[in-house]
Amino acid sequence: MGKKYFIKTFGCQMNFNDSERIRGILKSMGYEPTDNWMEADLILLNTCTVREKPDHKVLSHLGEYKKIKEKNPNAIIGVAGCLAQRAGWELVQKAPVIDLMFSSFNMHHLPELINQAQAGYKAIALLDEPPEDEDKLWEYDTVRDNKYCAYVTVMKGCDKNCTYCVVPKTRGKERSRSLESILDEVKRLVDDGVKEIHLLGQNVTAWGKDFEKPLRFSDLLYEVSKIDGVKRIRFTTGHPSDFTDDIIEAMAEIPQVCNALHLPFQAGSDRILKLMDRGYTKEEYIEKIEKIKDRIKDIALSTDIIVGFPTETEDDFLHTLDVVERVKFEQIFSFKFSPRPGTPAYDMEGQVPDEVKRDRMERLLNLQKKIMGEICKRYEGTVQEVLLEDTENGNKLIGRSTTNKWVSVEGGKELLGKIVKVKIEKSSPYNMSGEVVEVMA
Ligand code: 5AD
Ligand code: SF4
Repeated sequence: MGKKYFIKTFGCQMNFNDSERIRGILKSMGYEPTDNWMEADLILLNTCTVREKPDHKVLSHLGEYKKIKEKNPNAIIGVAGCLAQRAGWELVQKAPVIDLMFSSFNMHHLPELINQAQAGYKAIALLDEPPEDEDKLWEYDTVRDNKYCAYVTVMKGCDKNCTYCVVPKTRGKERSRSLESILDEVKRLVDDGVKEIHLLGQNVTAWGKDFEKPLRFSDLLYEVSKIDGVKRIRFTTGHPSDFTDDIIEAMAEIPQVCNALHLPFQAGSDRILKLMDRGYTKEEYIEKIEKIKDRIKDIALSTDIIVGFPTETEDDFLHTLDVVERVKFEQIFSFKFSPRPGTPAYDMEGQVPDEVKRDRMERLLNLQKKIMGEICKRYEGTVQEVLLEDTENGNKLIGRSTTNKWVSVEGGKELLGKIVKVKIEKSSPYNMSGEVVEVMA
């Protein structure tokens, strides 16, 4: 009987893609996936530590998963990802049930670590920096659940040092993946039936700056678009300071680049932006957005916002609401500031009480609800290009529009993996439905 693994992933798309790569490594070792952790020989948690909440979730899951040892004393429990990196041995002390732990830097060392853990040692391999052989990771294929849309990590780490953020600590300095290695993976994915390529990095717009002969992120967009079979391209996450005009031009010129952009602004007040060390002002952000909207018609914008950063006053917060009101994002991801150990904002004076954060969050979400109500009505009667990627109860299919909205249609399974034009009949803030009027590719 082959060995089985169960993997649970927290956090961002980068972490999700790391889990897909870990699954590829485990596959190469002969492991099979299972959805039932009680059946597993290896339980892995790929963790996040961006805010306090995910930290707690990991501990409570470990409390549950440790029961596996009663059934299967040889089972191994491992923790990977950002919390492992940040908390290290402190986490093992809190949860001695952990047999195995590694950084995002050394996922490719997993086979040796599993061997050590199986031999009865605590296999804890947390590195301060990426090892020399980090690129070996790309030699493993990913194992994905989505047949038609695939993430491709193009960039690791972040050099930005925003004062609230733990990522530079957990993922290290910016390292761009080579163009050759990226294109090679994209080709393999397309050969495997993938239509949509989603380029990933904590700060994807900085791609190529660290090469001996620097390249620009827009160069990467053009190169990926030249690969036969790439029907759609998305990317996350860009930083407003690196979001240069050539990227706007490339987005406008390349037909496969989706009509959506996620560009976090985090806060509207210039004083808070400065304390966050974001490197732009409110008006600079809005100017950039205006430029993007002018050049790319009907682009769907989304953003990340933090409320209650230390010293944030009511007046500061009103600037955040003002940005939301003026830009009219199609989606916002908003978070209450969560002090992260080891970051400059952790012990800044003027921490904002939780009830104030909660109140601001609620007002922000109410405003967005109102805006979304207006935006979604505008979709009704329009024709949207949708990549159908899954079935939904019975004879319905679902997929995403280029503007990143879920759309459901009636149709047979032969349409799966196809891009179709859909006339939108009904539209609510998070999904739409309509009728297929043309099958494109
Ligand atoms: N507290 C709250 N939100 C945070 N984010 C990052 N760090 C923190 C923090 N300490 C948010 C930012 C980022 C998103 C991924 O998480 O908005 O863009
Ligand atoms: Fe969480 Fe940030 Fe790590 Fe992603 S990079 S898993 S969001 S801490």
